[in-house]
Amino acid sequence: MDSCRPSICSFLLILFLLALVQTAFCRTRHYKWQVNYLFWSPDCVESVLVAINGGFPGPTIRAEAGDTIVVELENKLPTEGVVIHWHGIRQRGTPWADGTASVTQCAINPDETYVYKFLADKPGTYFYHGHYGMQRSAGLYGLLIVDVAKGEKEPFSYDGEFDIILSDWWHKNIYEQMTGLYSKPFRWIGEPQSLLIAGRGQYNCSLVSAEAGGINANCNKTNQQCAPFVLSVESGKTYRLRIASATALSSLNFIIEGHKLLLVEAGGNYIEPLEVENVDIYSGQTYSFLVKADQDPSKNYWVAVNVRGRRPNTPPGLAIFNYIPTRPTSRPSTAPPASPAWNDFAYSKAFANKIVARDGFGPRVPLKSDRAIVLLNTQNYIDGYIKWAINNVSLVLPATPYMASLKYKLSNAFDHRAAPETYSPNSYDIMRPPSNPNAATGNSIYSLDFNATVDLVLQNANILMPNSSDIHPWHLHGHDFWVLAYGNGAFNPSEDFRKFNLRNPALQNTVVLFPYGWTAIRFVADNAGAWAFHCHIEPHLHMGMGVVFAEGIEKLGKFPISGLGCGETKRWLP
Ligand code: C2O
Ligand code: CU
Repeated sequence: MDSCRPSICSFLLILFLLALVQTAFCRTRHYKWQVNYLFWSPDCVESVLVAINGGFPGPTIRAEAGDTIVVELENKLPTEGVVIHWHGIRQRGTPWADGTASVTQCAINPDETYVYKFLADKPGTYFYHGHYGMQRSAGLYGLLIVDVAKGEKEPFSYDGEFDIILSDWWHKNIYEQMTGLYSKPFRWIGEPQSLLIAGRGQYNCSLVSAEAGGINANCNKTNQQCAPFVLSVESGKTYRLRIASATALSSLNFIIEGHKLLLVEAGGNYIEPLEVENVDIYSGQTYSFLVKADQDPSKNYWVAVNVRGRRPNTPPGLAIFNYIPTRPTSRPSTAPPASPAWNDFAYSKAFANKIVARDGFGPRVPLKSDRAIVLLNTQNYIDGYIKWAINNVSLVLPATPYMASLKYKLSNAFDHRAAPETYSPNSYDIMRPPSNPNAATGNSIYSLDFNATVDLVLQNANILMPNSSDIHPWHLHGHDFWVLAYGNGAFNPSEDFRKFNLRNPALQNTVVLFPYGWTAIRFVADNAGAWAFHCHIEPHLHMGMGVVFAEGIEKLGKFPISGLGCGETKRWLP
């Protein structure tokens, strides 16, 4: 028979080999998840969580660079919607998979399934979390780790690895928290009851004291929901630790008793190796560091996280650095190591300034920008309710996802007037409570020219209460940005650009804005879609602390309509 002449044969053979190569090197990682309410005791006190597949924290996604990740997410919450955001994944070409309610998709209804499909394009430490209401605060999060592609090497080596998600925990559920935030008079959520390491904390367990048990009868060494996480190491070996902070509020400092940490990666980008005693990590940030097990192996050591930047009212989160064969449950007889004082901002700033790009890795920062947007962060009143505002506008998300409104040119789904480019620096004293404390709600956006280089200057200010200014870790969806500079006081546009680091700025997706300071970042608007940029403190975002960028919408082909079907889109969906 002639049906397989040499040309066709070789063509088929090539196809076959290509498919083989594809499966050998770039796999599809398929996950099937159900989101459920779950009874769980993250800190030895039972609560109800929003959880995935009946466990907490959510399953770790592990892929290699170049892999496609597919998550079929089924919402089994009986009466509320859900979405999941893949924090740090840029979603190049797949903005509809970003998982941001009201920006890129509608919340997935109870009993419905949405399929997230996206490329893990860059090795690094990432995580995922709920991005609807305050579901992240209810425990909806987990790790997403991307290893280097097969055959490639990291610019450092290690013998073993531990992956740890950090979070903070309240005994008040998120519905009570949200109601308080929306009440007049305002009811703040307060400080967390516990800090969790890998989802485990110990409320009132007096872990540190000699007598086990403590006041809380549930504190038992074998309760796998809240027994301290154990990192078992062999003496002389080097370990990579990946940490990701999914905290709702707390800025943390991570420390291992008696061990030095060598930072090598931050937010999915290599950084110039930096040896430190401890690491500041803000909500939305991730780090990798190397630790050598080089201490006396006959005992165990504390791993601790402590609150930074707010007067702490939460005991440290604890885990155990265990030298094999010492018993993993044997608790160090020492007190947990102390982090720098909570209000030592000079320390935090010095640390932040030391994080720079590793020489020879990653794209170079463009030396000029096409547009600069200044974003003043203030706390305000709107009709007597306390809100956060950016250039005097407090974000209230619309019913229709921005991306659909833009793509299908719906004229009345959000306010099409341009969002404010700046505030009036001369008439605003950032060191005092706002002289006019009132702001307005809004939902307008910043339209960016495709491929434009954009500078953002975040400007902090005093809150409503005198002598007080908060930390805000800002996170950008869809892009990494270069961290150009941190400064104190009001940004001076005619001078402060001289402070920009254009030599080796770190690429990041989340950056801290210090109290009474400013932070300047630069990014290239090269990813078609609509993207949130917001404070990663859950209650702050919920109180309006965010903006939305859009670029290149005309470049988007058809996108999956299964994420639509809310707000104005209902009128034209088939
Ligand atoms: Cu991790 Cu929009 O957030
Ligand atoms: Cu904030």
